[in-house]
Amino acid sequence: MQVDLLAGTVYNPAAMPAPVPTILVFDSGLGGLTVFSEVLRARPDARFVYAADDAGFPYGRLSEEAVVARVQTVMERLIGLYDPQLVVVACNTASTVVLPHLRARFPVPFVGTVPAIKPAALASRTGHVTVLATPATVARDYTRDLVETYAGHCKVNLVGSRRLAGFAEAEMAGTPVSDEELLAELQPCFIAGESGRTDVVALSCTHYPLLLSRFRTLAPWPVTWIDPAPAIARRVVHLMGEPVPGHEGDDDEAIAVFTAGTGLSAPMRTALQDRGLPQVTIEAMPLMTF
Ligand code: DGL
Repeated sequence: MQVDLLAGTVYNPAAMPAPVPTILVFDSGLGGLTVFSEVLRARPDARFVYAADDAGFPYGRLSEEAVVARVQTVMERLIGLYDPQLVVVACNTASTVVLPHLRARFPVPFVGTVPAIKPAALASRTGHVTVLATPATVARDYTRDLVETYAGHCKVNLVGSRRLAGFAEAEMAGTPVSDEELLAELQPCFIAGESGRTDVVALSCTHYPLLLSRFRTLAPWPVTWIDPAPAIARRVVHLMGEPVPGHEGDDDEAIAVFTAGTGLSAPMRTALQDRGLPQVTIEAMPLMTF
């Protein structure tokens, strides 16, 4: 207990409400919204900043070194501006290379998003599992190590799609691509052989769950689709605790930050609003050539 002599007021810190944390959710684009929605559901009391490095999108085409440098630069700016108590890197392409660098450089805790290979292997009955990701993510040592460690007993089909993240952005911008174009990217996920056929697809780019209802319709046969977002939200609660009682979520406080903002169409703004992000701001950070 402390006494404020000037005001003559008695404060009891135990009775003071716990502070409401600020959580920064970061991706190269809108894919991280699939993670944001789950984290928002888990901690509706928190203040949220959703940051899309759309000036750097897509990260899937950048070298490892370029992704590491870019994410650190953008993170420096965002942490300086918003002072979050936790950062969710809602991007597999970034998380599979940049997390150790971020943890070494910034004191704030980081929660990453990496291919859900362990749950995929556990969910498969046929032992035929597909990991659908960006070409960069499927090429990462990190991903290959996960396969070796957790799915050694499975046949793992690594599919790197160059176009799907862009298709998901187009879907959000109100300009969905055709079924034919989508199916061309999806088809390599489905393998039928003598020993069985694919029964699990791990969605290992956060953009892909934005297209899930279309994937379900177009899939040549039903499979279990694994979206890591609920597991990430559980990890956030594990680190930050349950919602602070008595704090109402205030949607108006949630901000979406873009580093370019050039693709912000009216349907996209509506989609952001519908997902709890009514405020949009541009923090211009052009991508330098590496
Ligand atoms: N959303 C990102 C991921 O989870 C990828 C999109 C991109 O290529 O930037 O991997």
